Amino acid sequence: MKAKAAHSHGWLVGILGLAVGITLMVGFPKLRAVAGVVLLIAFFHLVGLVVVLGSLYSFAPDRFGRLMERFRKKAPEEKGYDFGWSWGAMNGHWLAAAALVTIAFGLQLELPWLWPAWAVVALLGVSCFVGGLLLRTSKQTDFASLPLVDLLRSDQDLVLDAGCGGGRTTLALSKVLKNGRVVALDRFDAYYIDGGGRAMLERNLRIAGLTDRIQIEKGDLTALPFPDNHFDSAVSAHVIDHLKQHKRTGLAEIFRVLKPGGRFLMVVWVPGWATFSLANAFCLLLTSKAGWRKMAAAVGFSIRDEGTINGMWFAVLERPR
Ligand SMILES: C[S@@+](CC[C@H](N)C(=O)[O-])C[C@H]1O[C@@H](n2cnc3c(N)ncnc32)[C@H](O)[C@@H]1O
Repeated sequence: MKAKAAHSHGWLVGILGLAVGITLMVGFPKLRAVAGVVLLIAFFHLVGLVVVLGSLYSFAPDRFGRLMERFRKKAPEEKGYDFGWSWGAMNGHWLAAAALVTIAFGLQLELPWLWPAWAVVALLGVSCFVGGLLLRTSKQTDFASLPLVDLLRSDQDLVLDAGCGGGRTTLALSKVLKNGRVVALDRFDAYYIDGGGRAMLERNLRIAGLTDRIQIEKGDLTALPFPDNHFDSAVSAHVIDHLKQHKRTGLAEIFRVLKPGGRFLMVVWVPGWATFSLANAFCLLLTSKAGWRKMAAAVGFSIRDEGTINGMWFAVLERPR
């Protein structure tokens, strides 16, 4: 309770301090020294909290996830689909953008000659704002945006949604697959989705009236609980890029369970401007498009199509006949 109070107090001092400091600086130039002290206190509070959250995120992601869950508003069933994106996840980039632009503004007023520094901070702020916009488009609350690609063999396909989470991709698939069936597989243990996602998936399917057409399976993408040559097609959005050193194993597993001629739509984050706006320099740690093409070829897939959707890269891979 004490820690929670300290966190809220920190944000309050940081944000109020920024507002008061800037107002003093702009409105009362004679009080510049006071404004400077207030801004400094606000700045240290914000930086301190960002460092604490950043360290928690890096070293104890489960605790970070649980902390963020407190900010997730729980939607009652009549409110429609819920895919588990916390308030922090949806708005964090815009908060960071506001803080960066404010800092750039303060620097510009106080140290105008240091223009390269405030210009970089301002540009980072703009980049974070774009990241927030991108999140809004790709994490919309209705269903996932999937590219219109030649994926299915017929509208009676048996399709695997590998790493379905709260079911955004499952719902998108089911909208086009009127007579087929989707198997929605996940480990249901993601710390960043409320309760791991299973209850959320079941609830979303209930709302969509799809409970009878979707088979939910708990399982690991790196050791799929299905026989060889089982599915007509497969989809996996924002999952295989989470598999760290097991990405190739995940691809090989999808290859194994697809029938010859079956296609697999994969959506992943790759280094680029879009992912820079979401993850800053960390985007350079992502596997490149060339890396994915090489991995897919090594597993046996041929590439039928590729492109960009909402700033993310997709590829349609085919298991040769
Ligand atoms: C970012 S979410 C994407 C969910 C969904 N595909 C979408 O686009 O909204 C990633 C999902 O992958 C799942 N996941 C990660 N690693 C997995 C693995 N090895 N096996 C099965 N699911 C996994 C997580 O549990 C999580 O639900």
